[in-house]
Amino acid sequence: MATVLDGAAIAATIKNEVAAEVKSLAAQGIRPGLAAVLVGHVPASEIYVANKVKTCGELGLYSDLITPPDTVTTEDMLDLVRSLNDRDDIDGILIQLPLPKQVDAKFLLDSVTPDKDVDGFHPVNAGKLQAGRPALAPCTPAGVIEILKRSGLPISGQNAVVVGRSDIVGKPAAMLLLNENATVTICHSKTRDLASITRQADILVAAIGRPGFITPEMVKPGATIIDVGINRITTREEVDRFFAGDAKREATFAKRGSTIVGDVHPKAFEIAGAYTPVPGGVGPLTIAMLMANTVRAAKMRRGI
Ligand code: GUN
Repeated sequence: MATVLDGAAIAATIKNEVAAEVKSLAAQGIRPGLAAVLVGHVPASEIYVANKVKTCGELGLYSDLITPPDTVTTEDMLDLVRSLNDRDDIDGILIQLPLPKQVDAKFLLDSVTPDKDVDGFHPVNAGKLQAGRPALAPCTPAGVIEILKRSGLPISGQNAVVVGRSDIVGKPAAMLLLNENATVTICHSKTRDLASITRQADILVAAIGRPGFITPEMVKPGATIIDVGINRITTREEVDRFFAGDAKREATFAKRGSTIVGDVHPKAFEIAGAYTPVPGGVGPLTIAMLMANTVRAAKMRRGI
């Protein structure tokens, strides 16, 4: 039986550690602060950001939620970011993605001062990560490393295969694994004979954004599978394809008309040695690492 890696429990531990650190900073008169910028009304983003702000409160961080309208211009957003860059009560700036199409997202993210870039999206932080220097790393990939380490799973010397090359997950995950001395391969949509490569993975990170893409024949028996995907499925055909005979999922689908599947087909988990479930695997780590990055940014900015 494969071990289920309980991301929610690991995230809770990290949040407790962050809360303890916030308390000790409070004794020095320091309160780490996060500015969360949520543009318009994207339902998923509204839920994510509400969770981020709520978690700040629970751990004792200051937070400021800023909600520009979806008609906002790049220029308005640039003014906002500049003011946040200058504010002494703000240590971390989070601009929730996606942004409306009239906003030049790359230009805007590049305007966040790298020392407050708690998402780790700025090229300066991507470069530092690449150069193996201390950097604010993107939250989800940083969470992947925490899951592996805190579960006692070895990284050094392991064959790690990352499927997906996004700037937010795939690329930084590969860099973090490399910095931990894994032998890393990055695969993507143009990779030939993908299964022959994924079958060599001791650690397989799935970050493609396609429901159930990783199938059993792509997995080496006993491998650790980290499933970063969060895909909402809404059709009977998909539920049958991924969750046939799963009473709990059937109930969820009957109640909500949808359910969530990762980038890994549930059948593929059966031959793994350990895996992160969806939901409850990597997802909870993203907010925990955002909190950890904000505290880290607060300390770095003060030379602590
Ligand atoms: N949208 C989806 N995931 C993320 C994330 O990790 N950070 C930000 N800023 N936006 C997102």
